Amino acid sequence: MSIINAHGGDLELIERKYNIPKNELINFSGNVNPLGISEHIKKSIIKNVDCICQYPDVSYLSLRKNISDYTNVNYEYIIPGNGATELISLFIKTISPKSSIIISPSYSEYEREIKLNNGTVSLYPLKEKDSFILNVEDFISFIPNDTNMIILCNPNNPTGTAVCVSDMEILLRYCLKKNIYVMIDETYIEFTDSIENFSSVSLISSYKNLFIVRGTAKFFAVPGLRLGYGICSDKKILDAVNSKKDPWSVNIFASIAGEVMFSDNEYIKKTKKIISNERKKVINELKSWKNIKVFETESNFLLIKILNKNITSDEVFKKMIAKKMIIRDASNFAFLGNNYLRFCFLMPEQNKMLLTHLKSIIECNV
Ligand SMILES: Cc1ncc(COP(=O)(O)O)c(C=O)c1O
Repeated sequence: MSIINAHGGDLELIERKYNIPKNELINFSGNVNPLGISEHIKKSIIKNVDCICQYPDVSYLSLRKNISDYTNVNYEYIIPGNGATELISLFIKTISPKSSIIISPSYSEYEREIKLNNGTVSLYPLKEKDSFILNVEDFISFIPNDTNMIILCNPNNPTGTAVCVSDMEILLRYCLKKNIYVMIDETYIEFTDSIENFSSVSLISSYKNLFIVRGTAKFFAVPGLRLGYGICSDKKILDAVNSKKDPWSVNIFASIAGEVMFSDNEYIKKTKKIISNERKKVINELKSWKNIKVFETESNFLLIKILNKNITSDEVFKKMIAKKMIIRDASNFAFLGNNYLRFCFLMPEQNKMLLTHLKSIIECNV
């Protein structure tokens, strides 16, 4: 098995292969908020640790009401899940699309799930000449008549680009007319400078063909908690998704944490500020380098292309591991070659260190 699995940096594997204790590694490949878990979540879980002796509320009513307040969506449209992953899987299982399109390069789970459900997948390539920004008109002209489902990640992993809500509505209107379901994965939406400009949540009541998936792993820095949610205004679809879901798949600590995290405004504000500042700083610095191309990002991670032909993404990855830093060799994403890298923004000092080492490897060939 290659050192990088489909999901990027595997800390345990890297620890074993390179003999570096995993707590010494700085992970720029996980796209997780560098602030770490909020004190409110921590305190709430510690205070309620005895709840482990109970089952969670199988309808997750209180959790759904908290998500409803956060998203401004009717709680009846909300279904909590074991991470965004469970909802991606359940929605695809429910629709069981014969023929799907994934806007690519993108997150690998969509294609895996569709294939597990015996569907076929076409990948629509985002164009590098357009800086990987979706041209909705061009995409609509690409959609074959027999398409049942379209999947987009917004902002998109790994390109960081995002589709604005007015373009998304053009696509949704077309798909509604053609009976095509649209799944939008908004796992990274809170990292954008303007959720209102990019999130499709405001369209949920008007488009019953729309299923939005969100996670908490990245923005709230809780990948181990496994909490996500789906949003859909079609009751029949939600009932069908629910009927395929195992009861209590969201554990009691995830449900308790979910009741405090979405109203933790101080943490939310602080995260947005750090990411927004670091995004500007890092992009500005990278734009002055001659051996890379930078793609503008709306998210908390960045895709770059190495223009220096003397070095590949795999070689940069290994040289960075020697410095105890994990970045994502993006060569195994569709349509990207062995000269693309992705990394996320961490704390200012860590980003500074990352840039220093990357510069010496890519710009100075050290
Ligand atoms: C686009 C995207 N969606 C979903 C996930 C998985 O999210 P979760 O941990 O909430 O299941 C990831 C993880 O990397 C991701 O990048």
